[in-house]
Amino acid sequence: MHVQLNCVIVDPDDTNRQEMANFLGTFGLTVLAQLSSADQLDQLLSRGDAPQLVIVNLDPGAIGNLQKVGHLPRQYHNISFFVLSQILDPNLLMEAMHLGVREFVPLPINEQKFTAALERLASVHGMSKRAKLINIIPTIGGCGATTVACNLAASLAQSRKTALIDLDLVCGGVGGYFDMRPRYTIADVMQSAERVDRQLLDNALAVHKKTNVAILSRPDLMEDTQRVNQPGLVRLYSIIGRMFDCVVVDSAMSLDPMYSTTIQSADVNLIVMQLNVPSAKNAERFVAAMRRMGIESNKMKIVVNRFVKKGWDIDPVEVERALGLKISWLIPNDFKTAIAAINYGEPFVVSSPKSEISQCIMDLGQSLMGRQISQAA
Ligand SMILES: Nc1ncnc2c1ncn2[C@@H]1O[C@H](COP(=O)(O)OP(=O)(O)OP(=O)(O)O)[C@@H](O)[C@H]1O
Ligand SMILES: [Mg+2]
Repeated sequence: MHVQLNCVIVDPDDTNRQEMANFLGTFGLTVLAQLSSADQLDQLLSRGDAPQLVIVNLDPGAIGNLQKVGHLPRQYHNISFFVLSQILDPNLLMEAMHLGVREFVPLPINEQKFTAALERLASVHGMSKRAKLINIIPTIGGCGATTVACNLAASLAQSRKTALIDLDLVCGGVGGYFDMRPRYTIADVMQSAERVDRQLLDNALAVHKKTNVAILSRPDLMEDTQRVNQPGLVRLYSIIGRMFDCVVVDSAMSLDPMYSTTIQSADVNLIVMQLNVPSAKNAERFVAAMRRMGIESNKMKIVVNRFVKKGWDIDPVEVERALGLKISWLIPNDFKTAIAAINYGEPFVVSSPKSEISQCIMDLGQSLMGRQISQAA
């Protein structure tokens, strides 16, 4: 679970407060303030950047402390209150519920139950939705991964809210394939992992008018690639996952932390290859590495691009045997359409939707979203 919520902790004990802050941090919650008493709470909550959650340790003196904070849940009904106490007196519990406290958490904390309470809270704040994350991995330079990523995203965007992230940080071409030069890039939503928030991301995502794909481009300046980091990406996926139905990532064949995270977070890792020996060899090594990472076969899909019915260098059956995976999709070779789309800066699923290559990628999109479509090979 990863929850993007702001919270305030009230606890007289320094160590407890810090422990709670660390625990919440592992779920992605941001602790706006840690207070030793509830006295300043009212003032803090009336500010513009109020938290969504306030956690108050009522001990010692639970009954008196509950009275102190009792008016707050009604006053701030957009804020959820969790109260903690060692005292499990039914009257105290009833009183807390009457006052509008969302959760009464008995101390010492049962982590599992507390996590479940945070999950319930996340769903109350509309945080439970998760986009389907499709990670596109090339197996060799120029195999067509970006073409697949852009056209797949454009095709999915026809019926679903779709984002496309360019994780080819140095050479990525996603922006160009849509003829866009966004003002903000992925580097701008990374500055500090703590600060990736929804509004910042909203500003950084450039929506391509014709397709409705929301694009997060690679950094413009080469040196800005170094600002992109794994903790920032984890948070990015968590937030973007709640804003969209589908998130497509134009990735790289790498096990660096950013790419491993992406592989692990993905619902589908789409491995793009061509039927030639170098591509097949790379695919084989990479699939083996992913297996060692614990990625299950149902999360890996092999897509052969630039497929021709006759004249491949390596037999598809041979490839399937080497990878221990079936080829999921064959995208036909159509250089004229593919290069025209790049030069014009518009995905071919939009500019020539009737072409075989477009139809093929649209069907791939449908099948990834769960429709039973099989490809006539
Ligand atoms: N199905 C296809 N049929 C014919 N040509 C294609 C096809 N798919 C992609 N191409 C062409 O292959 C070239 C490389 O495509 P693309 O940039 O999508 O690949 P890539 O794997 O992202 O490359 P890079 O290694 O630069 O990231 C382009 O010229 C593109 O037009
Ligand atoms: Mg590419």
